[in-house]
Amino acid sequence: MNSLNMTTPLGKWLLLTLALFSLVTASPAHAGDLDLLNKHNCSSCHALTGPAPSTLAALWQRKGPDLFYAGNKYRQEWLETWLQNPKRIRPAGMFYMNHIKPGPKRNMVDTSSLSQHLQLNSSDAKSIAATLATLKENRSLIQNEKHDPKLSPGPLGEMMFDKIYGCMACHQIEPGFGGLSGPEVYTAGTRLKAEFMLSYIRSPQAWDTKVWMPNAHLPDNNIQKLVNYMINLSKKSYNE
Ligand code: HEC
Ligand code: HEC
Repeated sequence: MNSLNMTTPLGKWLLLTLALFSLVTASPAHAGDLDLLNKHNCSSCHALTGPAPSTLAALWQRKGPDLFYAGNKYRQEWLETWLQNPKRIRPAGMFYMNHIKPGPKRNMVDTSSLSQHLQLNSSDAKSIAATLATLKENRSLIQNEKHDPKLSPGPLGEMMFDKIYGCMACHQIEPGFGGLSGPEVYTAGTRLKAEFMLSYIRSPQAWDTKVWMPNAHLPDNNIQKLVNYMINLSKKSYNE
C-alpha cells in the first residue's frame, strides 16, 4: 500500500497537527461544562463519546442510552424538564429481557427490578441540558433530513404504526398499550427532534449498529407520516 509514512519528520508533524486539530474541533463541550456531568456520575451509565456498541454483548450490557449525539436527538426544553422530573421511557428498561417475567396471559414487566432515574434540581438540569445540547456526533445523519409537517397520515396513523408496519409490537402508543422492548412513542414528539426521528426510522443501525429495531426500508413519505403521527400522539397529555 502506498500510504504516507508517519515516521518521517513530515509525517510526525502531520500527526501532531492532526492530533492538536482534533483536540480543538472534536472536544464536544468545555471542560467546565462536563464537571457537572462528572459530579453526578452520568458517564457511569451513559456514553458521552461514540461510537455505539459494536457487539450484542456490549449492547445488552449498556446501562443507559448513548448521549454522545444528544444535541442531535433531543429537544433541549425536554431535557431540562425531564432531568428534573424523569418519567419512564422504556417500560422494560434498557434491555427488556432482563426485566420481563411470565404473566398469566403474556409477559409482564418486573417493575421491582427497574430503578428510578436520578433527579436534578432546576439549575443543574438547565446547565446539563445545555451541555448535552452541544454533544453533536452523527451530525451527517440528520443534516439532509427535512421534516414535512403537512404529510399527515390522517385517521390511518394508528393503522400504519400498528398493523401495516408492526411498530407497535415494540413501542407503546399510550401508557400500558403497545410493546415493551422499545421506548414509548407517546412523548416522542416532545422528546425528540423531528429530523432525528426521520433519520432513525430511515436507518436505525446508522445510529446504533446492533439495535434490534429492524430497518423497514420505508419510502420517505411514509416515514414523514409516521413521524407526524407520533408528534400528534404527544399533543395528548399523559399526566398520570
Ligand atoms: C445508574 C445509571 C444512570 C445514571 C448514573 C444516569 N442515568 Fe440517565 N438514564 C439511565 C437509564 C437506564 C435511562 C433510561 C430511562 C428510561 O428509559 O426510562 C436513562 C435516561 C436518560 C435520559 C433520557 C434519554 C433517553 O433517550 O431515554 C437522559 C437525558 C439522561 N438519562 C441523562 C442523564 C444525566 C445527565 C445523568 C447525570 C446527571 C444521568 N443520566 C445519570 C441510567 C442512568
Ligand atoms: C423489534 C422491535 C422494534 C420495532 C418493530 C420497531 N422499533 Fe423503533 N425502536 C426499537 C428500539 C429497541 C429502539 C431504540 C432503543 C433505545 O434507544 O433504547 C427504537 C427506537 C425508535 C425511535 C427513537 C425513539 C427514542 O426515544 O430514541 C423511533 C422514533 C422509533 N423507534 C420508531 C419506530 C417505527 C416508526 C417503527 C415501525 C416502522 C419501529 N420503530 C419499529 C425497537 C423497535
